[in-house]
Amino acid sequence: MYGLVNKAVEGLIRSKYGDETWGKIRSEVGVPDEPFISMGSYDDAVTYNLVGVTCTVLNLPADVVLEEFGKYWVLFTGEAGYGRLLENAGTSFPTILRNLDALHTRVKLSFPNLQPPSFRVAEESEQSLVLHYHSHRAGLAPFVVGLLKGLASRFNVDAEITHVRVEGDAAHDTFFIRWNSIS
Ligand code: HEM
Repeated sequence: MYGLVNKAVEGLIRSKYGDETWGKIRSEVGVPDEPFISMGSYDDAVTYNLVGVTCTVLNLPADVVLEEFGKYWVLFTGEAGYGRLLENAGTSFPTILRNLDALHTRVKLSFPNLQPPSFRVAEESEQSLVLHYHSHRAGLAPFVVGLLKGLASRFNVDAEITHVRVEGDAAHDTFFIRWNSIS
């Protein structure tokens, strides 16, 4: 994955658990003590190992760490120069969910080797929908739950998210999403 993702993992750990914890995780994963290059390509294993070692060091399950990372990613990209992309992707919670593929198509202009996920909205009603998620990568559904929660708070809505795995297709997950505005 692009270094931007590893940079965000580093940012989450440093801000939430401190520089010393980051140093421990970094050295255990075996990455050099230097900044990740946002536009650099890193093996997916680096990101998966960062998450795995974080779980061991902090004694937390992977879904908790991934969900936390998803929430953080929405804030991080907003502040790391991609705020305009997020703004242009939608002015409401359901609108941005419909535009996630268009958002990554724009991201691909700056990150040409991007292997983006794919999302599709179905069964829409006024305050609920089903989001289909297809990915080249395994095990990232809890990351998506965190992303959806991060987007919900960005739009000031209270969202209930239920993840349902699609049996027989490892690359496909669904999320039942119901939301209310926070008054
Ligand atoms: C402006 C904001 C965003 C930027 C700059 C961005 C960029 C990226 C980048 C660089 C990757 C790594 C893929 C690779 O290196 O091949 C990625 C992956 C991913 N993005 Fe985004 N993204 C943004 C917003 C979002 C949002 C709002 C969602 C909400 C669902 C999302 C969902 C994902 C997921 C689930 C992955 C993991 C890859 C996979 O499933 O295969 N992204 N994105």
